[in-house]
Amino acid sequence: MSLRLPPLKTDRLTVRDFAPGDFDVVHRILDLEGNFDAPASREDRRNWFDWSIMNYNAFASLYQPPWGERAITLKETGEIIGVVGYSTMFHPLTEMLEGKSPAQAKWHPEMGLFWVITPAHQGKGYASEAARVLIDYAFDNFNLKRIVANTDFDNLASQGVMKKLGMTLSRNEDGEPKWFEVLGVLEQD
Ligand SMILES: CC(C)(COP(=O)(O)OP(=O)(O)OC[C@H]1O[C@@H](n2cnc3c(N)ncnc32)[C@H](O)[C@@H]1OP(=O)(O)O)[C@@H](O)C(=O)NCCC(=O)NCCS
Repeated sequence: MSLRLPPLKTDRLTVRDFAPGDFDVVHRILDLEGNFDAPASREDRRNWFDWSIMNYNAFASLYQPPWGERAITLKETGEIIGVVGYSTMFHPLTEMLEGKSPAQAKWHPEMGLFWVITPAHQGKGYASEAARVLIDYAFDNFNLKRIVANTDFDNLASQGVMKKLGMTLSRNEDGEPKWFEVLGVLEQD
């Protein structure tokens, strides 16, 4: 198993580790122009960013998969146009899919995906292209059983990415936990 994520290339993109000089653009994409509920302050994002970079080696040395966010860059120019990564999702989702209520279902971790593309580059297929290379890497290198993503009912763009990736989408009509309304699941064949 290869534990340290190498730069991953697609036709148009490179998905690579953050470098220290990427901070300003990552902060802009995640906190200044994004439409997330709770953007981080510059200081909090800085701490998260430094922690992310330290974790690349830390996870590998602990024989963990390469959790964490990476930069999405255009192959042609090197411009950072987004952020994508493997996130730990801790929730009751698979048991809920099997029909259990949130109260009955046991919580457990899953490997999830996170994605964001800067507005100027949205609608060009970049999120799905970047996510696809991470999925292929995880399925090929960790023999991962499945990968998931979650989003809000009204985040149709994120649901569009899930569909394009071939995920099966389910709605959590109970509305609890609140942060988990739509679930996408992709099983390895
Ligand atoms: C979600 C996001 C990453 C999508 O990025 P993107 O590069 O524009 O997505 P893609 O171009 O790869 O689109 C993938 C599919 O979703 C569809 N889609 C994209 N935006 C859409 C929208 N606003 N409404 C409906 N469908 C949409 C596309 O049509 C495409 O499907 P198709 O090729 O079959 O037409 C981007 O909108 C974003 O950064 N949003 C803010 C951050 C965010 O919400 N992240 C998810 C957190 S859960």
